[in-house]
Amino acid sequence: MFLGLDLGTSGLRALLVDDTGASVASAEAGYSVSHPASGWSEQDPAHWITACDSAMRALAADHPGPMSAVRALAISGHMHGAVLVDDTGAPLRPCILWNDTRSHAQAARLDATPGVREASGNIVFPGFTAPKLVWVAEEEPDIFARVAMVHLPKDYLIRHLTGEAVAEMSDAAGSAWLDIAARDWSALLLDAGGMDRAQMPRLIEGTEVAGTLRADLARDWGLPSNVQVVGGGADNAVAACGVGAWAEGAGFVSLGTSGVILAARDTCAPMPETAVHTFCHAIPERWYQMSVMLAATDSLNWLGGITGQPPAALSDLLPDAPTGPSSAQFAPYLSGERTPHNDAAIRGGFTGLDIAHGPADMAQAVMEGVAFGLRDGLEALKATGARLDRLIAIGGGTQSPFWCQTLANVLGVPLDLPAQGEFGAAMGAARLAICGATGADVAGVMTRPDIARTIDPDTTLTHAYSSAYARFTATYPALSALQGA
Ligand code: XUL
Repeated sequence: MFLGLDLGTSGLRALLVDDTGASVASAEAGYSVSHPASGWSEQDPAHWITACDSAMRALAADHPGPMSAVRALAISGHMHGAVLVDDTGAPLRPCILWNDTRSHAQAARLDATPGVREASGNIVFPGFTAPKLVWVAEEEPDIFARVAMVHLPKDYLIRHLTGEAVAEMSDAAGSAWLDIAARDWSALLLDAGGMDRAQMPRLIEGTEVAGTLRADLARDWGLPSNVQVVGGGADNAVAACGVGAWAEGAGFVSLGTSGVILAARDTCAPMPETAVHTFCHAIPERWYQMSVMLAATDSLNWLGGITGQPPAALSDLLPDAPTGPSSAQFAPYLSGERTPHNDAAIRGGFTGLDIAHGPADMAQAVMEGVAFGLRDGLEALKATGARLDRLIAIGGGTQSPFWCQTLANVLGVPLDLPAQGEFGAAMGAARLAICGATGADVAGVMTRPDIARTIDPDTTLTHAYSSAYARFTATYPALSALQGA
């Protein structure tokens, strides 16, 4: 038996799997995000510990037999958060989360520092860890002076579970302190960010054992005395493990709150100017690249909110497949955009609205605008050399057949929709635990989920969607010029 923990932004989920990696049971516990000021987003690490304790106790109560046979666990975590600890390992302030934008000025300064993009392989986005520490140095100098070490969120939980101070590679890659090609802390980046190597934990790979679970916790959770805690990884890397995307050519598109296209890479080929993220994979000697759009299903949720209909009802207004692009267009920049524009200030818009248009036309335009934004991401990924001939499609938006077919038409690649089952970050984490504790071959463990349905692009519509995409790409510069004042 193995455990995969998913430390998400709104809660922690623990998944118990058997020795073949098949799901046995799961439990979860929630927590909230606090927003003490505009653009701020924080969480008390103590809440992760409480949630972990309650999920594990729930599993122990309901599944004592399987829990007593657990050999290892690993954690998937939300990225980029800064947990600052003192010399006893106690947090000095709440964790500043991945979606906190208070350090945008510090991020821009770091990003403009010669050598920074080359070493980190990425634009320094405001959500990354390094600019947060520059902000703390400037705004909370008393706290900064006491920072003995900085942990990424799930690595802080590993420290709580084992007493070991480690930084797992895929998470460290999102800090803007790591040389992602060398898989080592970068002297140049630490220096640029005002940090010292002594404040950085020991680096480990996602499949490496971090330590042994504390005896008191093992007892409380009905686990054996020698449970190994394996490195785990950053949420997107671990989700990729969950769907078997770890080697060149494999990838997924996630139609979730935000929209992600992820490509697994055998080499490190960063191209920061595309605003694509290049990070170490949770698997040794592998990397991945991803495009991120900020409002994917969030765009349809927004339309649902203002039209007073749940997004599923909007989706039901549409047939199973489009007969061609919409005559209205939507630019999905409701919260700014990361890939390819790296523009936090840009906002969206509708064009081509007609007096005859109703909610169904607007829903089609929104789905299409999101698909075109994802195509921008796919083009940026291709520019880095990533090869993606087909994609596994995951996320809430894939419930809509119309949206899936639109996305296939716009991206021009077949989309594989997994059958019902476990293939998310908790499963990816459990798979890392299996590999880490048993030395099992990654290829045998990190397999693709069963595919329920493949959606091929409708080639009779290729020309129509290419023309519509060309119109879409002209929208951003126009909006930018209009909004630039
Ligand atoms: C990736 C990113 C998110 C967070 C939250 O760059 O910011 O995926 O990890 O899930």
